Amino acid sequence: MKKKHIYLLGFMGSGKSYWGKKLAETLDLPFIDLDDYIESKNKTSISKIFETRGAAKFRHLEQAALIETARLAPSVISLGGGTPCFFDNMEIINKNGYSFYLKTPIPTLVQRLVPETTHRPLLAHFSKKELNDYIANKLEERNPYYELADKVVDSTADVIVEIQKYLKE
Ligand code: S3P
Repeated sequence: MKKKHIYLLGFMGSGKSYWGKKLAETLDLPFIDLDDYIESKNKTSISKIFETRGAAKFRHLEQAALIETARLAPSVISLGGGTPCFFDNMEIINKNGYSFYLKTPIPTLVQRLVPETTHRPLLAHFSKKELNDYIANKLEERNPYYELADKVVDSTADVIVEIQKYLKE
């Protein structure tokens, strides 16, 4: 069976948007960043949604965006870090596209996310040590969902090559 979209998933800082854009260019497909889609549809930032409407509301808006974008023409879609881990989202993802988990070592995630702690709603002002512990705990909780992806890809390797190889198989 040939599936429609290509989904990139993984923790914040795993390079989903970076690799998604590159992959879309390589495959000559439209690129959709689910966070950007949610922001433009709701005319506000993700941080504001968390702040004023709460995390639970955000997860509902996120699922609505996932379902809407699934109906669009074949695209490369970069998901939010939490998208695969709520409701039946992983089922929706795997039904509508090939999914790739961009697996990233914890120290790399910490290094990338340290400068982001001020503007990401889930990382609010963590110290480096707190960030490390938060990521380790969250990854343990999220890995079972992430690992439902069609393929696990090392995000520090050449993701484009790995994904193209998988799609040709
Ligand atoms: C989240 C990750 C963010 C964004 C929101 C929640 C998460 O997306 O959807 O802040 O739960 O891990 P990115 O992974 O694209 O930063």
